[in-house]
Amino acid sequence: MRTLIKNGTIVTAIDEFVGDVLVEGEKIIAVGAQLDTTAEEIVDAKGKYVLPGGVDQHVHYSFEFKGERVRGFETSNAAVAGGTTTVVEFVNQEQGKGMADTIFDMDKNEVSHKAMADYSYHAVVCDPVDKTFEEIADLPRRGISTVKLFMAYKGMPFHSDDEALYKALKAAKEAGVTVMVHCENADVIDHLQRKLVSEGKTDPSYHAVSRPARVELEATQRVINLAAMVEAPVYIVHVTAKNVMEAIRTAKNEGLPVYGETCVQYLMLDEDDLAKPNFEGAKYVMSPALRTKADQEALWEAVDNGWLNAISTDHCGFDWESQKHMGVDDFTNIPNGAPGVENRLAILWTYGVNAGKISRQRFVDLFATTPAKNMGIDHCKGHIGVGMDADIVLYDPNGSSIISNENSLHGVDYNTFEGYKQEGKVDKVFLRGKLVVDDGEFIGEKGDGNFIPGKPYGLCFNETKPTKKLDNSRI
Ligand code: URP
Ligand code: ZN
Ligand code: ZN
Repeated sequence: MRTLIKNGTIVTAIDEFVGDVLVEGEKIIAVGAQLDTTAEEIVDAKGKYVLPGGVDQHVHYSFEFKGERVRGFETSNAAVAGGTTTVVEFVNQEQGKGMADTIFDMDKNEVSHKAMADYSYHAVVCDPVDKTFEEIADLPRRGISTVKLFMAYKGMPFHSDDEALYKALKAAKEAGVTVMVHCENADVIDHLQRKLVSEGKTDPSYHAVSRPARVELEATQRVINLAAMVEAPVYIVHVTAKNVMEAIRTAKNEGLPVYGETCVQYLMLDEDDLAKPNFEGAKYVMSPALRTKADQEALWEAVDNGWLNAISTDHCGFDWESQKHMGVDDFTNIPNGAPGVENRLAILWTYGVNAGKISRQRFVDLFATTPAKNMGIDHCKGHIGVGMDADIVLYDPNGSSIISNENSLHGVDYNTFEGYKQEGKVDKVFLRGKLVVDDGEFIGEKGDGNFIPGKPYGLCFNETKPTKKLDNSRI
């Protein structure tokens, strides 16, 4: 079946033009001005932007915090309705089990029949035995091109120490696997948390006091040094603060392969949100913590200049009433993380593109094109071009609305961006050629999403890729 999307404004990471996109089956087979062809389906996209489906390289559909688990892939329609057609999920390794086995057992039991967006996986080191580090060499064979370690969260099964980081960086470098790191000094946070709670400082605003930007900066500088010791690239996830971003920029300027992302919430929200009364602040408990307006400005500048190369969501579907309230007497028990996958496009469009902070090309790059490159899935995702998967969003820039949880599909009782204005709306979404959002309504089905294997030597290896291992299928 052929679908011809006509007369839309096609936006890529480098250009923009009025034209047509011809889709056959799951793929884009032609892009150009006034394509001289016919198709079974003709979609008039005049006045709309034709964008590549978003790639959110940082989501959690299986994360557990002190026994509380986030909403799973049965809520991934929220991603698609918001214009994100591929999500990349972090899977915490089960003790005594391989990372890939943990992932693919979960895939079979909880994901493949439920996913409504395409998806890829990050392995997460939780069992730092020799076998785990040896397994890194085998991850690419199983379609996993990234491995994550958490420097934060002392005492939790997913916390890693420096030895684990060093070993992972060394093994990953040899395999072309990108190491992603949550950077915060776990010991200092643990000490500050215990001190604050013992002083009766238990409300959500103390979450930020217990993990100031310097704990993020210290850990970021530490992992940059560890990576430099073994000459490995490293990717810093959810950067929140000006000084952390500057540490990454300095490392880059020194020629080190150090990369990082930020997330929508760190561009939009600040520590005042954590201080909202009546335990509302718990909705904004995430780690690292929300910072200041000055940090937000620095992060906008960083994404515009490429000092940070992607904007993700760190989506975590925890319910406020039934889950965040676990920490009503002690902020350290509030499950960390907030939802956002549904609102990434509209927020970035409204407060980034329309506010003049980033161009439409830059938006597409941060939203889809570069995340796909980071993940080693850019052979099929993140770009409107011939041969790519037909993951296409038609964005109608007209009109505006107010974001509300009432209209959200993410399956929890609050929206992190409640009350924020959004300009324009996702009108249609195609997932590998199938229409899954029509006139803003999700019409896809559970199981529509496919696993997308990631290839090794993603973007972070661009400078260091050994010629003997050049993967020609990426060219
Ligand atoms: O608070 C957060 N970010 N929760 C999700 C896990 C993580 O740290 O990425
Ligand atoms: Zn994290
Ligand atoms: Zn995360």
